[in-house]
Amino acid sequence: MLVDKFIPKPYTQKVEAAKVQHRAPSNIALVKYWGKKGEQIPMNPSISFTLSDSYTETIMEMAPRTDFTTSFQIDFYFDKEPKENFLPKIETFFTRIRNYIPFLRDYYFIVRTRNSFPHSSGIASSASGMAALAVCLMKIEKLFAPEMSEQFFYEKASFLARLGSGSACRSTYGGIVMWGAHPAVPDSSNFYGVPLKDTHEIFDTYQDTILLIDKGQKPVSSSKGHKLMIDHPYAEARFAQARQNITLLRDVLSQGDLNEFNKIVESEALALHAMMLTSNPYYILMRPNTLSAIERIWYFRASTNTPICFTLDAGANIHLLYPEAEKSKVHPFIEEKLRPLCQDGDVLFDHVGK
Ligand code: PMV
Repeated sequence: MLVDKFIPKPYTQKVEAAKVQHRAPSNIALVKYWGKKGEQIPMNPSISFTLSDSYTETIMEMAPRTDFTTSFQIDFYFDKEPKENFLPKIETFFTRIRNYIPFLRDYYFIVRTRNSFPHSSGIASSASGMAALAVCLMKIEKLFAPEMSEQFFYEKASFLARLGSGSACRSTYGGIVMWGAHPAVPDSSNFYGVPLKDTHEIFDTYQDTILLIDKGQKPVSSSKGHKLMIDHPYAEARFAQARQNITLLRDVLSQGDLNEFNKIVESEALALHAMMLTSNPYYILMRPNTLSAIERIWYFRASTNTPICFTLDAGANIHLLYPEAEKSKVHPFIEEKLRPLCQDGDVLFDHVGK
C-alpha cells in the first residue's frame, strides 16, 4: 500500500521527554474539496493559498505516562484554559493515526494551543489546528528518527493532518498547495498535499481580506456537507468540473492570467454553494450581505478594471483576493463599501504566506 511508508520502522533513538512548538496558518481553497470517501480521501483534487496572519500556534510536551486507564493520556489547553470538550476530537485524531505514530500510546501529552484570530471570527480553525498538531508530532518523531529526510517529514506531516481534517493537509506548507491526485501535477496525491512549483510571482504576495459577514455558528457543518455529496444528483458533474478547473488553474497559476484566475475562483465558490442549495436536505450558508458584497465586488471590478475576485468557504464570509499592488485601490473600496456589510464591521487582512 502507498501509505505503508508512513508506518515507521523501529526507531533508532530513545526519547524520554520532549517539548516542541509549531505555528500553522489557515488556508483558503481556490478549487474546492467537497465530498470524500473512505478515510478522508477527497472525491476531487483541490488547490489553496496558505495564509499568513490567521494561524494556530501549538506547544506540545511529551512526558512519561503516569496514567494507563485510558487509550491515551492527554491534557489540552486552549488559550491557557483546560478545555475538556476539545479532548474527544484529539482522541479521535490520535486513534486514527496511532499506527503511523506508535509512541502516542506510550507517553503523556500536554497540548497548549491558541489561535491568532478571534474564536467567533468565522475562520475555521480545524485546518490550522490539525496542521499545527500534525507538525508537532512530526517534530517529536524526528527526535526518535533523526535520519528522516525533510521531504518525508513534510509529506508525513501533511498525511497526518489530512486524517485530522481534510483541508488541514494543505496547511503544512506555505504558498500554493495542491491535494488530490491529478495528471496535471505528477507528484500530487490523495494522501497528502504538495506545494505547487513554478507559480507566477504575483501570487507570492496575493492578498486575502476576509469579510466577516456572519460570525455565528454555521447551521450545517462541513462534515455533514461532505456526506451530502454521497448520492447528490450533481456529484459526478461537480467532481468532473473541479478536475477540469485544476487543469485550467494550474496553467493560470504559472502564467499569472488574472482574468482567468478570477473566473475559475469565483465559479468554484459558487459551484460549492450550488451543491449545498441542491443537496437533500438543501440548505443555504450565504447570508443576504454575502450576495450584496458579491454584487459590489462585481460592480467595482467592472467599473475600475481592478483584478479582484471573491471566494467562499463553507460559510457566509467572503474572502476577497487581489494582488498586493492593488492594495491602495482596493482598501478604500473595502472601507467604504464592504466593511459596512460585515458583522460588527469586522474585516481581517491577510495574505499568502511562506
Ligand atoms: O477540511 P474540511 O472537512 O473542513 O472541508 C473543507 C471544505 C471547504 O473549506 C469548503 C473546501 C476546501 O477545500 O477547503
